[in-house]
Amino acid sequence: MVHDVGKIKVPSEILSKPGKLTELEFALIKLHAQDGYEILKSIDFPWPIAQFVGQHHERLDGSGYPHGLQGDVIHLEARILAVADVIEAMASHRPYRPGLGIDVALAEVSEKCGVTYDENVVAAAIRLFREKDYQLQA
Ligand SMILES: [Fe+2]
Repeated sequence: MVHDVGKIKVPSEILSKPGKLTELEFALIKLHAQDGYEILKSIDFPWPIAQFVGQHHERLDGSGYPHGLQGDVIHLEARILAVADVIEAMASHRPYRPGLGIDVALAEVSEKCGVTYDENVVAAAIRLFREKDYQLQA
């Protein structure tokens, strides 16, 4: 519910832009992870939610942002957010493209399982959709 709260600082024209983003526009969007951390860090949650949000675009192999963190340095909760976020984003409609569907989304996280995405998290996501019949909310 709050992982992308930092996008409140990104102009909506950029967030909903049809077509390819410029390097500068993409750089502005990437700020949303750190901005989310900054927005949430002073709120007293029972868990370090601000850190989870700040790390949700980090990737196991260090290819993510904002800090290029690797492996277990990234909170498990952020690794879960990463997989859930990519599946939801790919499967759902966006202003600039129709939804690609759950099969394409699961194939993407499976392909990068253990490289950019946590193996256990990907396995859990696949179980949810394939065995537990989980459905994304429309
Ligand atoms: Fe995000």
